[in-house]
Amino acid sequence: MEQAPRCGSSTPDFGLPENGPACENGGVADNHPFRLGVLGSGQGSNFAAIARAVAASQLPAEIAIVLSDVESAGILNLARERGLPAQFIPPGKFRTKLEEDAERAFVAALNAARVDLVVLAGFMRVLKGDFLRAFEGRIVNIHPSLLPSFPGLASWQQALDYGVKVAGCTVHFVDAGVDSGAIIGQQAVPVLDHDTADTLHQRIHAAEHELYPRCLAALARREITVQGRRVIWKTP
Ligand code: GRF
Repeated sequence: MEQAPRCGSSTPDFGLPENGPACENGGVADNHPFRLGVLGSGQGSNFAAIARAVAASQLPAEIAIVLSDVESAGILNLARERGLPAQFIPPGKFRTKLEEDAERAFVAALNAARVDLVVLAGFMRVLKGDFLRAFEGRIVNIHPSLLPSFPGLASWQQALDYGVKVAGCTVHFVDAGVDSGAIIGQQAVPVLDHDTADTLHQRIHAAEHELYPRCLAALARREITVQGRRVIWKTP
């Protein structure tokens, strides 16, 4: 796939004022590849989908580093198998957030890897103030529901319990809330009468593997601007 032209700014810009001037030609910024820092706590199937899209030149970016708060996380193995820098950073004593030292270590590793965008791919901890400030407007997440429905855990089970007929996944910017940032993209899947939590989860997962690389490619190509809560995709 043809890549968008590049422009001269080294600062990522998704239309947020604090991220500096927009790239005039709408191309990827700077003369360096768009660098992703991927954070995950689990098996890493979204990471694998992202890596496949990079390898297939469908996503004009490079994976600069993969970090996990879980030493045995599959995502670290998948990264190492691909020869990518991968690091476990002990998260500290809390269950759902990072301890301050750990947060500083994550930020330092991402800065050392010169990442343009922080990509949460199954990272099971809520990011707090200093981390959010360090990468303001440059952190994205994927969530297994059509937000704002069913934020939080086991969203597929929530969808089944509620009885919705359409479920799906959402890629969104990360803000200080839980699954509450501006929505970049969504992909719907049907809920079938015979679905179990497992079958619905699998269908949503498969949709995630299409949606995340597509959204990241649009970000890498500067095809996205943010106007308040609305994320606008530039039409080709
Ligand atoms: C995905 O379902 C994602 O939506 C959620 O965590 C899961 C990660 O799965 N945030 P994987 O590790 O990428 O397979």
